[in-house]
Amino acid sequence: MILVLLGPPGAGKGTQANLLTKQRSLVQLSTGDMLRAAVAAGTALGRKAGAIMERGELVPDDLVIGLIAERLDQGDAGQGYILDGFPRTIAQAEALDRLLVERGKQLDRVIEMKVDDDALVERITGRFACAHCGEGYHDPYKMPKVPGVCDRCGGTNFVRRKDDTEEVVRARLKAYHAQTEPLIGYYKAQGKLRGVDGMADIALVQKAINQALDPPEGAHKPPNSPG
Ligand code: AP5
Repeated sequence: MILVLLGPPGAGKGTQANLLTKQRSLVQLSTGDMLRAAVAAGTALGRKAGAIMERGELVPDDLVIGLIAERLDQGDAGQGYILDGFPRTIAQAEALDRLLVERGKQLDRVIEMKVDDDALVERITGRFACAHCGEGYHDPYKMPKVPGVCDRCGGTNFVRRKDDTEEVVRARLKAYHAQTEPLIGYYKAQGKLRGVDGMADIALVQKAINQALDPPEGAHKPPNSPG
């Protein structure tokens, strides 16, 4: 299965992609994570992308498309994957269609996660993670059980993303509405789009995504179809 999670910053794409990888044999492909790794490693791509990301703008299409094209050819992506944060522009969506055709594959589903802008700002500015194992936390909704100690690995250092300040989140939301939202119409026209309420609890969002991926027998059947 090849799946796109589409939604604004903080909609819960990473959270849900992570849960889906545990339920299904799918790999999570997050362009945000790949770009942050390139920035941390100081590669040529990372040097180009870092300042753009800190401003909350989108990294140029050709750089991101090249990154994804390379990643699709790694062995572990053969079983199916969840694209988290890609595509983000019509040009990226068209490139994805081409990349999949070249590999004899097709996109199965696009899940649009719908969330209010104000809730997103609160979600993102409260987010932090363990510097050692990456376990995610949220101030005030999900704090470590022992203050200052990671529940998963016992680490005591925590990090926040540089682009998680309110000012940059507002810029990321602006980029989403201007450049990424048009993908809703693009995928609706392909009949691949399903929407879920991203404002619900994490477990309910997960359930709604699973229902959109495996609709109950008989769902979406035309009224006069046989059987
Ligand atoms: P990227 O890393 O993709 O960031 P993003 O899209 O802004 O999304 P986030 O990772 O912030 O949020 P999310 O939707 O994954 O939410 P999460 O699950 O973490 O991109 C960063 C930057 O890289 C971009 O700005 C751009 O510069 C560049 N970039 C990346 N891809 C690109 C591309 N294709 N083209 C060009 N540039 C690109 O959840 C957020 C918080 O909410 C967490 O604290 C979580 O615990 C909490 N939460 C999740 N779900 C719920 C829920 N249902 N209820 C309550 N809280 C919840």
